[in-house]
This record gives sequence, structure tokens and C-alpha cells, in this order.
Amino acid sequence: MLTRSIVLSLGLLTVVMAADRMGMVRERPAPPPPPRPVAIAPAPAALVVAAAPVVNAHPTETPDVLPDGPFRDETFYFCTTCHGSAVITRTGATRERWDFLLTWMTDVHGMAPVEGADRDSMLTYLATSFPPRRRAPVNPFLQQGSN
Ligand code: HEC
Repeated sequence: MLTRSIVLSLGLLTVVMAADRMGMVRERPAPPPPPRPVAIAPAPAALVVAAAPVVNAHPTETPDVLPDGPFRDETFYFCTTCHGSAVITRTGATRERWDFLLTWMTDVHGMAPVEGADRDSMLTYLATSFPPRRRAPVNPFLQQGSN
């Protein structure tokens, strides 16, 4: 009976972690999704085994999901309290735009303001790691491989 509930808890943990990874959390970052009463089909044994070593009170991402660089850890811990890192990594923006986004996060979403040297370092990190992405112009008249 005890074993059974442990296995079920591990299964639930796996599902929650998977949901987080799939970005279900980042789509609706605030408020955090309430724990849903999930009726879990018997978890595949492999999943349970895989989850066993990572029993974490608060399963979450670690800073290395973000590209290395100065102020990466600070940025990670500051920015992933409300949403997953994917919200950040899928964004490409200029320093000015990142600056705007930080202000917006504070004004609209209640993020604690980042100021002074911290803001400067964070903006440098963000603008360097996630610069604007340019889409290569597609010229339908050019033959493939000619450019
Ligand atoms: C207080 C909570 C909170 C914190 C802390 C926070 N954010 Fe956000 N952020 C949000 C919410 C809520 C959204 C989703 C807005 C929406 O879905 O429209 C969001 C959305 C975003 C977006 C997507 C903007 C877009 O163009 O759609 C980016 C990029 C982002 N955050 C970056 C950051 C960075 C970088 C940090 C750290 C400096 C940070 N966030 C910290 C609440 C927060």
C-alpha cells in the first residue's frame, strides 16, 4: 500500500515535470497552474524508474538551460520565478527591447524592479545571449544554393 502510493506520487511528479518541460507552464505563467486532480493510468515502469533519482521537493529547471555568460545565474534565478526559461529563450530582442520588456514585466506583471548595475549586467546578458533573430530573406527566383 505504501509502495503503491510512492509509485503514484512519482508518477504524478513525472507528469508535472513533463508538463513543465512541454511549456504548459510557460503558456500561462501567472498564476501557476493549480495542482490538477489527475487520474493517472498506471505509470510505465520506465518512467517511475527514471523519476526516482530526481526526487526533488521543487522540480524545476537549473541555470544551465540558459547559455553560459556573465550574470547568467542571476538572470536565471530572477527571471524564472514566474515562468519557464523558454519564454526567454524563444525571444530575440535588442538591448532596448529587453530594457522595455523588463520595465513591462515590472509595470504589468509585478516583477521586482531590476536597477543600476544589476539591470546593466542583466541587459548585457540578455541582449548578448538572445539578440534579435533575423529571418533570411527568401528570394523565390534564386536557385537553391546560389546564394
Ligand atoms: C513577476 C513575474 C515575472 C517575472 C519575475 C518575470 N516575468 Fe517575464 N513574464 C511574466 C508574465 C506573466 C509573462 C506573460 C505575459 C503574457 O503571457 O502576455 C511574461 C512574459 C515574458 C516574455 C514574453 C514577452 C513577449 O514578447 O511575449 C519575456 C521575453 C519575459 N517574460 C522575460 C522575462 C525576463 C528576462 C525576466 C527576468 C528579468 C522575467 N521575464 C521575469 C511575468 C514575469
